[in-house]
Amino acid sequence: MKLQRVLQYAQQLLTDAIEVGDTVVDATAGNGHDTLFLAQLVGDDGQVFAFDVQKSAVDATLYRLLDNALEHRALVLHTGHEHVAKHVQKPVTAAIFNLGYLPGSDHDIITKPNTTILAITDLLQLLKIGGIIVLVIYHGHPGGKEERDAVIEYVSHLPQKYVHVLKYEFLNQQNDPPFIIALEKMKELPTDIKTRL
Ligand SMILES: C[S@@+](CC[C@H](N)C(=O)[O-])C[C@H]1O[C@@H](n2cnc3c(N)ncnc32)[C@H](O)[C@@H]1O
Repeated sequence: MKLQRVLQYAQQLLTDAIEVGDTVVDATAGNGHDTLFLAQLVGDDGQVFAFDVQKSAVDATLYRLLDNALEHRALVLHTGHEHVAKHVQKPVTAAIFNLGYLPGSDHDIITKPNTTILAITDLLQLLKIGGIIVLVIYHGHPGGKEERDAVIEYVSHLPQKYVHVLKYEFLNQQNDPPFIIALEKMKELPTDIKTRL
């Protein structure tokens, strides 16, 4: 298979960007699969900041880390990713978002356009030059299309001298398959860019 599936491609982008010792963010910890993946990449000198608004997701993520003896590499925060700038003060190499709801959990608890865009805006400031944000966009659920459209509208207008924006999507799959938006920071953004976007 030559074309990587969406989740494989997301992991490839993270693997290519992250080095041992880096600070990274899992913006939607859920069951902790991505937090664990990131913890494996950053090594003992790196750190993962993981966010989720659901206590059950925080517990599941902590459990997964403990099960793999990697809990010392991650700080799992029971709070929304829109507060990322309060908790992360170091330059970040990479961040991952899995938008939508947590399978097997309450389908009414979903990521929302405003908070997702706030978190992306703050992460763009925190990112190192060359750092990436990977968004896996699920849009088949109620509210998903609104979030998808708002995120696309926002990232499409990021000035290209500061941020490169990629969309990776299979065009002939059925049933609203997920796709990726990836952002690569090219240049330090002006601090007032939030108000100008
Ligand atoms: C698609 S799931 C994430 C799956 C996860 N990456 C995994 O490996 O299992 C989306 C998660 O985002 C969480 N979420 C919703 N709003 C959030 C917010 N404002 N900040 C952080 N997490 C949020 C939900 O609770 C849910 O667990």
